[in-house]
Amino acid sequence: MIFSRKIKIAPSILSADFANFGAECQAIEAQGADWVHVDVMDGHFVPNITFGPATCAAIRPHIKGVMDVHLMVAPVDAYIEAFAQAGADVISAHLEAGPHIHRTLQAIRGAGAKAGLAINPGTPVEAVEYLLDMVDLVCVMTVNPGFGGQKFIHSQVAKVARLRAMIGDRPVHIEIDGGVTVETAPLVVAAGADVLVAGSAVFKGGSVENPAPYGVNIAAIRAAAEAVL
Ligand code: DX5
Ligand code: ZN
Repeated sequence: MIFSRKIKIAPSILSADFANFGAECQAIEAQGADWVHVDVMDGHFVPNITFGPATCAAIRPHIKGVMDVHLMVAPVDAYIEAFAQAGADVISAHLEAGPHIHRTLQAIRGAGAKAGLAINPGTPVEAVEYLLDMVDLVCVMTVNPGFGGQKFIHSQVAKVARLRAMIGDRPVHIEIDGGVTVETAPLVVAAGADVLVAGSAVFKGGSVENPAPYGVNIAAIRAAAEAVL
């Protein structure tokens, strides 16, 4: 993974057909996805349950590019090695998931993955200041984590701009997760984001049998995002 701030579209398989993850991953990559975003929910940190490292390992051979694993899990440290072994390129943990996020980020890099730090909408951006030299990505949640298809929280755009200024010239991605559409993507890209997660806005209208709408949706989000650069 060579660092670049070129816009990357990362469809979330939370909006895919859960009975067909391998084919869905292949379909979104064939339709122009840059990364594949994998939402792991534990029914404790967030009020929803998805899947774990075994599912990640099973889908890994169906992904050519970056597997971006978002852990909505608390406590998380005991699971990091398993997700790294499953082939995650990026592992993001939540700052709010425990008292020792610094140790968690060390563990992610120690396991050989890129370290992502996810922050909830209510978490101040200043909370990441002393962690910026330990991360490869900050994931700014623009919905409260737990479900796809929620409405974008506009107050987070100012957070993205402040975060980009804090990051300075460090090679750190800003990822946006939640409510990304052709309308909201330009707002966060103008503020300094470069990785756009999108679930419902990518998968709407398409299926494994009819994947062309995925490509249309990805291209529309990318065009709207790149138009502000
Ligand atoms: C929310 C997840 C998101 C979500 C995005 O907890 O982390 O990745 O699937 O879905 P949309 O794009 O539908 O808001
Ligand atoms: Zn996510």
